[in-house]
Amino acid sequence: MSAPELAAPYGNGAGSAGPAGSPVSPKRVRIPYLQELKHRGEPWPMLTAYDMYAAELFDEAGIPVLLVGDSASNNVYGYDTSLPVTVEEMLPLVRAVTRAVKRALVVADLPFGSYQLSPEQALGTGVRFMKEGRAHAVKLEGGRRFATHVEALTSAGVPVMGHIGFTPQSEHNLGGYRVQGRGDAGDDIVADAVALQEAGAFAVVMEMVPAEVAKRVTHELRIPTVGIGAGPDCDAQVLVWQDMAGLRTGKLPRFIKQYADMATVLSEAAKAYADDVREGSFPTADHTFCLLESPNDVRALRLFRKGSRPD
Ligand code: KIV
Repeated sequence: MSAPELAAPYGNGAGSAGPAGSPVSPKRVRIPYLQELKHRGEPWPMLTAYDMYAAELFDEAGIPVLLVGDSASNNVYGYDTSLPVTVEEMLPLVRAVTRAVKRALVVADLPFGSYQLSPEQALGTGVRFMKEGRAHAVKLEGGRRFATHVEALTSAGVPVMGHIGFTPQSEHNLGGYRVQGRGDAGDDIVADAVALQEAGAFAVVMEMVPAEVAKRVTHELRIPTVGIGAGPDCDAQVLVWQDMAGLRTGKLPRFIKQYADMATVLSEAAKAYADDVREGSFPTADHTFCLLESPNDVRALRLFRKGSRPD
């Protein structure tokens, strides 16, 4: 495959200042690049993101793929599973993330009930995420049974990331959070992955799958595999950002590694702020506007706070 042109053939859109035809944004991550990384044997990281600041930070940190996961159901909206979140709740999050990134490929998760009914329903929802959310790709859960849905999307120009193994939208059907693909069921995982590839998926997430099975799938597929609780041999790894950064507390699944303690950092910041407000040490003159913009105003404010009237 030849290298893509950096400038769009029909213009780069509003906001792309600079001489006509000159690329002004950093090179975008595109699907062929992820496939090239697989062939080079270079593992790549993926994280979830649901808002502008996290997306901007992760993009600048060099995370090539951001997933606006339906885990927003639990991690943004506070539902107890990923099932209740709706397309209408997901779309604004996808828009926020796509607006914030300059380089990352943004994948939007299709929520439960928004694609399972038929390939036509899957295509309708996928198109909404691409047009209204400005996503670069979508993700859906399920293997062989959803190959026709994937085909409908990819043949219409919507790139699809598959998701097999433990699929949270089917947690009630699967009998809870269980490793999938042990024993003979390993062959089902391989068959699901191959079916998704043949339907045109550009990558496949494998969640809570034995490492040996994930390794087999990774060797068998031309497209990248993305592991979450699927061992070290996948082409890429994904984590929910609040898990990775330690914002989530309590008992965690064993596949999570925490790289920061955001829960403590935020909680200490909130307590320090509350103490300052209660003690009257915030806001100070530095944080305050006065009627007149002069050095005397600051002095006047200090005197005022101490109880004496300024002259
Ligand atoms: O919704 C999500 O966050 C996911 C990933 C964890 C793979 O599906």
